[in-house]
Amino acid sequence: MLEKIKSIKAEVEAFQPKTIEDIENFRIKYLSKKGSISALFDDFKTVPAELKKEIGKELNILKQAALEKINTLKAALEIDEKSEIKVDLTRPGDPQNLGSRHPISIVRSEIISIFTRLGFIVTDGPEIEDDAHNFGMLNFPEDHPARDMQDTFFISPGLNILLRTHTSSVQAHEMSEIKPPIRSLSPGRVYRNEAISARANCFFHQIEGLYVDENVSFADLKQTLDYFAKEMFGESAQIRMRPSYFPFTEPSAEVDVSCTLCGGSGCNVCKGTGWLEILGCGMVDPNVFKSCGIDPEKYTGFAFGMGIERIAMLKYGIRDLRLFFENDLRFLNQFSSDV
Ligand code: PHE
Repeated sequence: MLEKIKSIKAEVEAFQPKTIEDIENFRIKYLSKKGSISALFDDFKTVPAELKKEIGKELNILKQAALEKINTLKAALEIDEKSEIKVDLTRPGDPQNLGSRHPISIVRSEIISIFTRLGFIVTDGPEIEDDAHNFGMLNFPEDHPARDMQDTFFISPGLNILLRTHTSSVQAHEMSEIKPPIRSLSPGRVYRNEAISARANCFFHQIEGLYVDENVSFADLKQTLDYFAKEMFGESAQIRMRPSYFPFTEPSAEVDVSCTLCGGSGCNVCKGTGWLEILGCGMVDPNVFKSCGIDPEKYTGFAFGMGIERIAMLKYGIRDLRLFFENDLRFLNQFSSDV
């Protein structure tokens, strides 16, 4: 008899109904007058007196378990069935507000995708730098004004630990850590000790590019930037280069793009000149190669750097840099993008 109780107990435990009807059939099978558990109670009369205590206990446990199972399963299924009735499948869904990407992120992705098509790869570096990577290896003289506390945020002046002032520092890491050919792009946040205004902030974002190989020429640089300007600002965009100075490039140039608003005829955005400055660039100075352990007799290279905010301002016609950092939803909601 104990065997029988055991096997019915296993059946009860394994039972999984799909409908209320299944539960009713289960009840009939085990607990109705002719059900198998009820039959066990009938047989109980024949159990020898000395076993009655043990078997009676097991039998009661089994009956209790079957009843409990029926009750809980029934309750669960009833809730399900009721709630199904309540769901109106024709009701329109609740609208979900989609977020939008920050304009700086949108423009950064766009710039990256233009240069990755030319084979540049994205590299990353620390925002907290040492003097060597931010200045020294990049050929900044000891008395260069950028090394002054007025222009640079020093975290620990004695140890010369600072917040990077440009992402050229990533290129100093690259050049001293890997061998040419190098074709890299370093986007990131940079810091300068500037008064906050419509045109300047104490931090902003840059993307710098570096190409080092044998026979890299100024013409390659110009072609690359011309391609970038056309991809970024449209087929009709022109660039021009003006001689300039950076400690880490020689020769150096500043690059203007034909005004994105008037197309070059002159307006108040380009102050009547027809041109807008977008970036700095040049051929990597041999001194930089030397301090990074690259042979300047064998390799040449170009570098360029631009402010992402500046490109975004030109692209979207934004007049005040501070809007990018205030996180005013009325401003941010105007941007949407699939990049
Ligand atoms: N690092 C320069 C800056 O911060 C930009 C630059 C990069 C210029 C590379 C020339 C070459 O303004």
